[in-house]
Amino acid sequence: MSARAFSVCAIVCAAGKGERAGFSKNKLLVPVGGRTVLERTVSAFDFPGIEEILVTASEEDREEISRLFAGFPKVRVVSGGATRTQSVFRALGENRCDIVLVHDGARPFVSRRCIENCIRSVKTFGSGVCAVPSVDTVALADENGAIASVPPRNRAYSVQTPQGFFAKELLGAYRKALAGGGEYTDDSSVYAAFVSPPRLCEGSRDNKKLTYPEDFSDGFARTGIGIDTHAFGKPQDFILLAGVKIPSDSGLVAHSDGDVLVHAVMDAMLSAAGLKDIGHYFPDTDERWSGADSMNLLAEVRRKILAEGFAVKNLSVAVLAEKPRLAKYIDAMRLSLADTLGLDPAAVGISAGTNEGLGYVGEGKGITVYADVLLKSL
Ligand code: CTP
Ligand code: MG
Repeated sequence: MSARAFSVCAIVCAAGKGERAGFSKNKLLVPVGGRTVLERTVSAFDFPGIEEILVTASEEDREEISRLFAGFPKVRVVSGGATRTQSVFRALGENRCDIVLVHDGARPFVSRRCIENCIRSVKTFGSGVCAVPSVDTVALADENGAIASVPPRNRAYSVQTPQGFFAKELLGAYRKALAGGGEYTDDSSVYAAFVSPPRLCEGSRDNKKLTYPEDFSDGFARTGIGIDTHAFGKPQDFILLAGVKIPSDSGLVAHSDGDVLVHAVMDAMLSAAGLKDIGHYFPDTDERWSGADSMNLLAEVRRKILAEGFAVKNLSVAVLAEKPRLAKYIDAMRLSLADTLGLDPAAVGISAGTNEGLGYVGEGKGITVYADVLLKSL
């Protein structure tokens, strides 16, 4: 018997409020690194094995979500309900495929591999629920907070999404679930209650659900590098590094104040956030930046990356300079950067070294700075 080709659709649940995440809007519509969480999640399902992606949206978010996916021909936005159970039930009513994969919009790190494991499990066993072995011991508590039972850890799993089923079976189970008025946190519990014990398949530890504010900072961390060089030659008896005035036989030539260290830091921050470089935002052809205080520009760059949903987590800077000697100014430089970036000084590291007499740095012609930054998303 030749296997019939089953069509596969996905339901991406996005009709929640994201209250626990504490943003001023649905957590799925917060941009992280230039793209919303929901766009990232939906994109994971946008491959040839999936026919249609139904995205559940609350009345409040419907317009914004429809706009986000205007360029995605596979996406259809459907109205969600007051609970996840109701949202999935409504989407199931709109589904036209044999197999349906239900996925939380709040799990943007889902991999193609998880999705394919899930589809394969449905075709083989009739259901597929992505899960990973629990690393914690799981306890069931009674109402007083006392442990009532502990399943053996080698059989305990953390259940994720996607969860796949034959659509008719799942719809039937949901009808009964809603008629009974029960509330369920996922689809496997609905299927378990009204069809049969669903089958687990291999999920992934990366496939985390974004629930609390801190969940948003780790997963979207971004690193960036910035490098800048300025030549000596300005008739001036100091240079500025991180806004700190350091005595020198000659100043650094620049359109701005020549703070080569801050320029490298700004480029690292902009690059990590996926933005353009300082030459784009503060061009030296623009008189506004003539003699500009680079620390003010740094504050402006901090605002720019904040608008993209990022803040600096830590910063590491290496200065290559034959002269002047910098050791005794390093703490002041760290404090100055920490202050402008709203960081603990311990999150700012600065090292300084000579170039052993080699090259333009060694000959004392200029200073080069390398900056490395880690951004967390907010
Ligand atoms: N969801 C839904 N319809 C609802 C409630 C939730 O489609 N009425 C979706 C959410 O958008 C989310 C997923 O179900 O992608 C999992 O729910 P959860 O992580 O609890 O998200 P929220 O309900 O939005 O968050 P919170 O409970 O913190 O308000
Ligand atoms: Mg919820």
